Order: sequence, then structure tokens, then C-alpha cells
Amino acid sequence: MEFLVVAAASLMQGVCNNLSPDYTPGFIHSLCNRGDIATDLGAHLSSGANIWVLGSSNFDIATTRWSALDAPNISIVVEVATEDDVKYANPNNLPFLAYSGGHGAIETLSGVENGIQIWLNQLDSVSISEDSQMATFGGGVKSKHVTDALWAAGKQTVTGGCECTSLLGPGLGGGHGFLQGWHGLISDQFVSLNMVLANGSQITVDQDSELWWAVKGAGHNFGIVTSVTSKIYDVPEDGLWSYKSYFFTHDKVEELYDAINRYLLKGGKQPVDLINYSFFFNYPDVDPTHPLIAFFILRQGVEAIEEKYAAPFDKLGPVLSMSDKGTYNDLPMWTSNAEDSPPCQKSGLANVCFPVDLQTYNPTTQRLAFDTFSNFTQKYPAFNNSLFLFEGYSLQGVQTIDDESTAFAHREANLLVAPLIIYQPTDKERDAQGVAFGEKLRQIVFQGSGQDEMFSYVNYAFGNEGPEAWYGYEPWRLERLRSLKAKYDPNGRFNFYAPFY
Ligand SMILES: Cc1cc2nc3c(=O)[nH]c(=O)nc-3n(C[C@H](O)[C@H](O)[C@H](O)COP(=O)(O)OP(=O)(O)OC[C@H]3O[C@@H](n4cnc5c(N)ncnc54)[C@H](O)[C@@H]3O)c2cc1C
Ligand SMILES: *[C@@H]1O[C@H](CO)[C@@H](O)[C@H](O)[C@H]1NC(C)=O
Ligand SMILES: *[C@@H]1O[C@H](CO)[C@@H](O)[C@H](O)[C@H]1NC(C)=O
Ligand SMILES: *[C@@H]1O[C@H](CO)[C@@H](O)[C@H](O)[C@H]1NC(C)=O
Ligand SMILES: *[C@@H]1O[C@H](CO)[C@@H](O)[C@H](O)[C@H]1NC(C)=O
Ligand SMILES: *[C@@H]1O[C@H](CO)[C@@H](O)[C@H](O)[C@H]1NC(C)=O
Repeated sequence: MEFLVVAAASLMQGVCNNLSPDYTPGFIHSLCNRGDIATDLGAHLSSGANIWVLGSSNFDIATTRWSALDAPNISIVVEVATEDDVKYANPNNLPFLAYSGGHGAIETLSGVENGIQIWLNQLDSVSISEDSQMATFGGGVKSKHVTDALWAAGKQTVTGGCECTSLLGPGLGGGHGFLQGWHGLISDQFVSLNMVLANGSQITVDQDSELWWAVKGAGHNFGIVTSVTSKIYDVPEDGLWSYKSYFFTHDKVEELYDAINRYLLKGGKQPVDLINYSFFFNYPDVDPTHPLIAFFILRQGVEAIEEKYAAPFDKLGPVLSMSDKGTYNDLPMWTSNAEDSPPCQKSGLANVCFPVDLQTYNPTTQRLAFDTFSNFTQKYPAFNNSLFLFEGYSLQGVQTIDDESTAFAHREANLLVAPLIIYQPTDKERDAQGVAFGEKLRQIVFQGSGQDEMFSYVNYAFGNEGPEAWYGYEPWRLERLRSLKAKYDPNGRFNFYAPFY
């Protein structure tokens, strides 16, 4: 089967002249019958743009996602080459969706049927301002390119901890990362954004704009960002970081989380340059009948994690411990979030997350969560690659910013907790089993927290939590979002990623 790549100028003509009834979706036929859209796209896209239709090999590359569950149904990919292309890529009445890193996994994405994917992979430029205080990034740029390009100039900024997610996918929902303790969230770095609205108009959003508040936490719902200018910083101390990691066996759950509370969290007074991170996972070579707990301490500016932080965990008796020093650029590799690490592969697995924010660990609850995770993954090996993640980023930079000044509503949350259920999808029964398992684990930690409202970080959300859990329970927050929505996206064209209508 011949694939169709059509340079933009002759694009729809090419597609429409070469329709093969065997494999061309009805959608393309109807597009070809609608001369207005065809002519519009073909006449306006720049020469570097491409169109990929179902059945072409690049279509698969363009549309493959990190999670195979609840993926949007895409009929045509517009691979834009310039910021201007984006405004022509969303013809009337067809659902469309931006794609940057393809790691978005919220179930609301499945609302896209026969959609147009606006593929932003060519919008990956990085350019540093003359005064070296800011950089402008293309709307589809990925974390690794941001970090590498800035590093070459002795600079850094807040990105997600994972090399393969984009800057804006995480950033528009707030955006957590290793440098947030110093500088705040990814979105706290924004200086201005170029956006294409639902009606195709291009606007610049900055601190004087009505949308400024909304794009910092609920930005996926208002437009497509074609570029962003953000604050950048000098790399301190030659970028030196070090880590120490531990694997603990199942009998250490209570002592471990008690020690984390006591020695690391210190009632929210964790040092800014110290980050901790743990997860439950199965590693049958070491323990064939229970999961293990991996625990990481990461610290900037030191040659090795100091005794005062490591001692309580050394004393617990890990089955394995590792440590190393390197630079900021090694953090994704150390924490298994590098481009070649498992979480960056798009291998057809279902990856579903059930997040809940916590203030502190409840060791009794951690035990119940661990045993539940253990029993289930032992009993149902199809789910034994699942993880239960506990992220403790430092918070100073996040919490110095006024809570009400952005749509991101959860600055008080100390810990990001999320079961990540991983399995090979086979049928609806297995999907339902995986969802029930993830939800059960989340409810255990939530109920053990004593909190009465569940907060779920929008970028990790499964999709059933609801707008209050994503955007805040204070009524003014959703009221403000909805009133902006009525003005900037009155027909709800951007309602596929954690919508709040
Ligand atoms: C392995 C892994 C590690 C992660 N680590 C972190 C982390 O450290 N910190 C963190 O905060 N989150 C993290 N996340 C969650 C991450 O924020 C979300 O998965 C996010 O959706 C990924 O964005 P993406 O561009 O890769 O995915 P995509 O699926 O391409 O984008 C997700 C959605 O964002 C919107 N979007 C994307 N680009 C644009 C744009 N330019 N303009 C407007 N809308 C846009 C679209 O609605 C799209 O559906 C991680 C996820 C994974 C899988
Ligand atoms: C999208 O849905 C249509 C109709 O339900 C189906 O024929 C098509 O294969 C789907 N597309 C993809 C890429 O799965
Ligand atoms: C982990 O990070 C959280 C959030 O900053 C903090 O409260 C906790 O004390 C830290 N624990 C360890 C062991 O570092
Ligand atoms: C896990 O399984 C063991 C052994 O069957 C059982 O005693 C225990 O109660 C189970 N724990 C949970 C939390 O399901
Ligand atoms: C998962 O289960 C399969 C089948 O029992 C086993 O071969 C594999 O080693 C297990 N993997 C993990 C990570 O536990
Ligand atoms: C598009 O919507 C914006 C926001 O409501 C509005 O200011 C602008 O005038 C609209 N443009 C067109 C061409 O309708």
C-alpha cells in the first residue's frame, strides 16, 4: 500500500486524486467532497507541512501514543511546519487535537472521533534572548531538547522530569519538575505565549492578558500554543547533582515511610536542593513473591548524598543500594525517565494513572497499599509491570507564588502519589480490571490521608476525577474558567483534555 505524503500546496488535490476505496476512510472522502476545506488547507499551509492519512507509515509514527487505552481516534494528521500553519490546520466542524509528546493519557481524549491531529513535532526551536534571561521555544518542543539546548549555553529552566514529554503538555497543566523547588512550576516560568484560538485567530498571551491566569494550569482548554517564551537561569555549581537509591524488601514499608516523614519531609521543611522519590515495583529476580520498594534521594550541589540524609535509610537494610554523581542532565537516566528508559517507549501498552495529592505519608496506609498492590500483581501477572509512584519534589519555589494567581490550584500539595497501571490491552474485561485496581489503590491512600477533598494533578489524571479535583474546589475557580471559556472557545473545540464544561 502506497503511503501518501503530500506537500502542502498540492495536498488535498493529491489526497483527493489518489483516493483508494479499500483503505481511505470515509472521512477523507467527505473532506474531498467539501471543496472549501480542501482548498483552504492546500492553499494556506507552508511548504514544509505534510498531511498524513490513515494507512500511511508516517501516520502511525505521528499518532502512536504512550498509552494505548482511550486513545483519540485520528483520521488525518496535519504536520505543521510554521506557527502560521496551525491556524489553517483546524477546519470548521471537525474535531482536532494538538500532539506534542504523545504522553497525554487522560480518558477524555477518547472523545475525539475521526479527528484531525495537529502534529507539532517540527515546532521544536529553542532561541535564547540577547540578555540570556529568557528563551523562546516552539510549541511542540520536548524536554530533552530544551535541556540540551540550554545546557550548551550554561542555562537551564524548569521542565518535566521525563525527557520524552513536551514542555507545553506538562506546562499548560502546571508542570512539575526537578527545578521547581528553586523556580516554581513550568508555567510559572512563562513570559508570553503565542496561541491560536478556536476561531483561528492568533494572539499573544502575557501578564496583561485576560487568559494569563487560565493558561497557567488549564491551558489545554483554550487554544494551541505555537511558541512560548519562558524564564531561564544560569546553571549553578557546574550543574553538579548526586543521588543515592535503595531497593527495600516488603517488610520495610512502615519503617521506610516513617523515616521519610521524619528525616526528609520534616513537616514540609524539606531542603530546597533535596528531592525524594519512591515506587513499588515487581522485580522477581530479587523477590519472586512480593514487590520491592525503590527509593531515591536526589540532591543538587554535592559530590554525594550526605550521611545525615542517607544514614536513616542505610540503617533500614536495603537489599541493594546505588549512588553516583553527575549533572542535572543525568537525572532522567538515574530516575528511569530518559529517552531510552521504559516509560518513554510507545509500545502499545495501556498506561493508566490514578493520582492523588498527599501532605504526608501514613505508614499504616502505605502498608495496606503495598499489600494490595502486592497481592493483586502476584495474582494477575498481566498487571505485574505496574508501578505505584510517590514523588516528593521540593516546593519552596512553587509555594512562594500566590495560590490565586494561576489556574493551577494545588500549590500546597507536598506529595504526588499515583498508581500507574501498566498492561498489554486485550479486551474490555482486562481494561475494567486494571481501572478497578488503580482506583482501589488510590482510594486506599486517599482514605488514609484524612483529607476530605481529593486533588488529582490534571496531567496525571485518569479522567473520572472531575473538574474540581483538577482545577480546584473553590467555586470561583471554575466560574472564572467557564466565563473565559464562553468568550475564547464558545463552541468547546478544546474540550478533549480534562474539560470543565
Ligand atoms: C513518563 C512520563 C513522565 C512524566 N513526567 C512528568 C513530569 O515530570 N512533570 C509533569 O508535570 N508531568 C509529567 N508527566 C505527565 C505529563 O504532563 C502529561 O503526560 C502530558 O500530557 C504530556 O504532554 P505531551 O506533550 O507529552 O503529550 P501530548 O499527548 O502530545 O499532549 C497532551 C495534551 O496537551 C495538549 N497540548 C500539547 N501540546 C500543546 C500545545 N502546544 N498547545 C496546546 N495544547 C497542547 C493537548 O490537549 C494534548 O492532548 C509525565 C508523563 C509520563 C508518561
Ligand atoms: C477510527 O474509527 C473508525 C470508525 O469507528 C475506524 O474505522 C478507524 O479504524 C479508527 N481509526 C483508528 C486510527 O483507529
Ligand atoms: C520527600 O519530599 C516531600 C515533599 O517535599 C517532603 O515533604 C518529604 O519530607 C521528603 N521525604 C524525604 C525522605 O525526602
Ligand atoms: C494479601 O494476601 C495475604 C495472603 O493471602 C492476606 O493474608 C492479606 O490479608 C492480603 N492483604 C490485602 C491487603 O489484600
Ligand atoms: C510477570 O509475570 C510473568 C508471568 O508469570 C513473569 O514471567 C514475569 O517475570 C513477571 N514480571 C514481573 C516484572 O514481575
Ligand atoms: C476570535 O475570538 C477572539 C476571542 O473571543 C476574538 O477576540 C476575535 O475577534 C475572534 N476573531 C475572529 C476572526 O472572529
